[in-house]
Amino acid sequence: MELRLKERLGRKFDEEIRFFKGWMDGPKQVGAICPTSSITARRMASVINPKSGLPVLELGPGTGIITKAILQRGVAPKDLVSVEYSTGFYQHLVRSFPGVNFINGDAFDLDRTLGAFKDATFDSVISAIPLLSFPMDQRTALIEDLLDRIPAGRPVLQITYGPVSPVIARPDRYKIKHYDFVMRNIPPAQLWTYTRA
Ligand SMILES: C[S@@+](CC[C@H](N)C(=O)[O-])C[C@H]1O[C@@H](n2cnc3c(N)ncnc32)[C@H](O)[C@@H]1O
Repeated sequence: MELRLKERLGRKFDEEIRFFKGWMDGPKQVGAICPTSSITARRMASVINPKSGLPVLELGPGTGIITKAILQRGVAPKDLVSVEYSTGFYQHLVRSFPGVNFINGDAFDLDRTLGAFKDATFDSVISAIPLLSFPMDQRTALIEDLLDRIPAGRPVLQITYGPVSPVIARPDRYKIKHYDFVMRNIPPAQLWTYTRA
């Protein structure tokens, strides 16, 4: 087998083991059964405007597949703020992506978690938080909080595996759009955006 292919397969296997370990530590927090595919990660990162001059907020980076796609989209590491709850994932992320502002904390308590970035305006939010593991009032509160941290019209992009939006409609507060359905993900993934008018 070609050396580069061997290395790539080895890395993929490492990622899967790491994901499985994270899943063993907190299956409800991890939510998914497999790491996000790179195709899905690229689709998620495609909503970012890398020329906005604003930082990007990522939630629930896990093994870092979406982090990698965000950086490849043209976001400088210093302009990415990424919040991960699991300390095991966090330590791996800090080693793998030098210069990214990783924070080991809770996305549902952003005023405290974001520290120096608490008052920042972000271009957009890319979230892999397993929302379906949390009650609906916490989900809507999170989306509202995130929308207050980005300019009107810019998206919070959320990945989920259910057939409908994981956050209920509140047309007076935000607009929900089905952004994509990605078959090449295990399980197939739904991408949703939330924007303020
Ligand atoms: C579905 S996994 C993300 C998978 C990731 N895209 C990957 O491929 O490795 C969800 C991630 O959200 C994190 N998470 C869950 N609850 C969180 C919270 N309240 N705050 C921050 N991160 C959280 C989990 O630790 C996990 O890393």
